[in-house]
Amino acid sequence: MTEIIQHTSTRLAPFGESIFSTMSRLAVEHKAVNLGQGFPDFDGPDFVKDAAKRAIDSGFGQYARAFGLPETNRAISRYTERFCGFVADPEREITVTAGCTEAIAAVLLGLCNPGDEIVLLDPSYDSYAACVAMSSATARRVQLNGPDFRITDALLRPAFSKRTRAIIFNSPHNPTGRMFDEAEYQIVASLAKEFNALVLSDEVYDAITYARSHRSISALPGMRERTVILGSLGKTFSMTGWKIGWAIAPAAITNAIRSAHQFLTFCAATPLQRAAADALNSVCDDGSYLEELRRDYSQRRQMMLEILQEIGFSCVHPEGSYFILADAKGAGFSDDVAAAKALVKAGVATIPASAFYDPACPDRRWLRVAFCKREETMREAQRRLKAQPLRQLANSTV
Ligand SMILES: Cc1ncc(COP(=O)(O)O)c(C=O)c1O
Repeated sequence: MTEIIQHTSTRLAPFGESIFSTMSRLAVEHKAVNLGQGFPDFDGPDFVKDAAKRAIDSGFGQYARAFGLPETNRAISRYTERFCGFVADPEREITVTAGCTEAIAAVLLGLCNPGDEIVLLDPSYDSYAACVAMSSATARRVQLNGPDFRITDALLRPAFSKRTRAIIFNSPHNPTGRMFDEAEYQIVASLAKEFNALVLSDEVYDAITYARSHRSISALPGMRERTVILGSLGKTFSMTGWKIGWAIAPAAITNAIRSAHQFLTFCAATPLQRAAADALNSVCDDGSYLEELRRDYSQRRQMMLEILQEIGFSCVHPEGSYFILADAKGAGFSDDVAAAKALVKAGVATIPASAFYDPACPDRRWLRVAFCKREETMREAQRRLKAQPLRQLANSTV
């Protein structure tokens, strides 16, 4: 560990080992059921796997065109038209990346100069702050307050200035499960316009919604030209390990994104891009897979809410994504890290949501529980959590 700190660049040293790695290690140590990591413990659909096998067997083994296989860019454009309501030019406005994670990095590296500021809405996905640091820009972190995590003009306005290059906006939101509403969209859009900033709109959970269908902020008047949509195949098709993502932006912004992407990965895995094209085309032709995905996740969400409430947690009911925030302090724990450590010892791994905040001002109240899990996984977690009263677990940590 000392070695790592000594060698790590000053840009990245502050990020240290992430709580995700720590919790994964503890999960293995305690043979815990893993409700921490945000990936499904079930496989994606056969029609997508079959498409990848066909691609591997039919000569898609070499580098693809840097910004994407032509058919993949076309399929992303179709998907965007169907679900965002505008036509993105597949050749000039879409870049296929190695997961949305690479898209986030390529956008920030391609667009930012030293002195630029990027507004983050905490709690925020952990790669945002790290990629801002790698890009030499500065993060301006705004803390949203639970349990409603609402965006208000009073909260957000002070973070904007003439230095603001962009705000990263994620809806449906990891980790709160919020789908920001029309009034909140308007606040973000009008500040972006007032300060001539871009909106980097992370929409990886666009298909996993409960409250209503997802709407991209790019659909608001005047927003198309200043929005970069960041998407991913991983969540929608339960294939997080495939790492196929994309960035959609007007041509001039896309050129900047591609200037970084060509030197980061050059291209995403060719056969998986080919399969992604089939997967996206198939949901454009027939909406039944996406309807089933939503039904399925609604049931998992309901089951996990019942399990957590039954053992004594108050929860934030997610409107989208596959995460629930459980109130650790409300259940008697001193903070979220103490709760996560007690729960992992009891055999269930979760993530303390303070990992999603500025380390200088974390909200230490919430535990993030992932419910992208099989019924038997969730039932096993329930069995373990019921074996020891929550109050007793909380007292064991003080
Ligand atoms: C909000 C958010 N953005 C981006 C990503 C990364 O997506 P990908 O797996 O496509 O790199 C994740 C993954 O958990 C996420 O939760």
